[in-house]
Amino acid sequence: MTVNPVYKQGWTMDDIHWSLFDPSRVHPTLLAAVKAAALVEYNAPDYVTYLKKVFADAGPGTLAALEQWGKEEAQHGRALGRWAELADPAFRLEDAFARFRRGYTPAHFTPAQDGSVRGSRRGEMIARCVVESGTSSYYSAIRDASGEPVLREIAGRIAADEYRHYKLFYDILHAQSEPDLGFWRKLWIAIGRVRESDDDELAYSYYCANVPPEKEATTPYDRKKYSHLAGQASMTVYHRHHVQKLVQMVIKVVGADPHGWLANLAGAVLWRRLSAKSA
Ligand SMILES: [Fe+2]
Ligand SMILES: [Fe+2]
Repeated sequence: MTVNPVYKQGWTMDDIHWSLFDPSRVHPTLLAAVKAAALVEYNAPDYVTYLKKVFADAGPGTLAALEQWGKEEAQHGRALGRWAELADPAFRLEDAFARFRRGYTPAHFTPAQDGSVRGSRRGEMIARCVVESGTSSYYSAIRDASGEPVLREIAGRIAADEYRHYKLFYDILHAQSEPDLGFWRKLWIAIGRVRESDDDELAYSYYCANVPPEKEATTPYDRKKYSHLAGQASMTVYHRHHVQKLVQMVIKVVGADPHGWLANLAGAVLWRRLSAKSA
């Protein structure tokens, strides 16, 4: 397939206006959420390795786009991590990331995994679009919630990248020669990927980012507890319209009307679920 050659990140770490950083405007809950997000973003190279296996014979255009995508995600991690280091000099991105890596390796990132864990390339791209819908809306929400100007800038730049990633994976999805999946199958894959956000990735990244190593012994990891704390921190930034946008992007991928009844229903259900989780 051919991938749009204009697919390229428009910023580097040096473009961020770091000198505008205002420590008096750092909100502690948002800081905790940003530290955790930095670790997840920074872990992208594993995902590139996995996707390149799934798309091994997809042609150089797709493989180059996947490489570029992974670099952009890692840069998101670096930017968020550097901001967190400014806001909390005790935080070290590399140290927290090393702990996260030691304790978190999902099955599909192990060398033994061959082919897509979603059952097909189309399934894989639907799952990717769900993640990019989530990150695009999440960083938009952080941008809108942050009173700290540098975080606002970083989150705005990242949100734009995530939206572009969504479009990239959407294009790759529709370029596959595999037969299209049925509506219910697509919906099932999308819902499955949303539900996976309950796994260790978000909970454990929150733990490694916010519990310093010297407190590990007295404050051990507990998935339920840290999943709840991570959810609570994320929900401080979300408004209903951010969640609706997320749902519309996902609904478009499964082939339904982003402004139809299903989108309205799913938006209401997801909002209730997120609100309940963080209560
Ligand atoms: Fe990202
Ligand atoms: Fe992304």
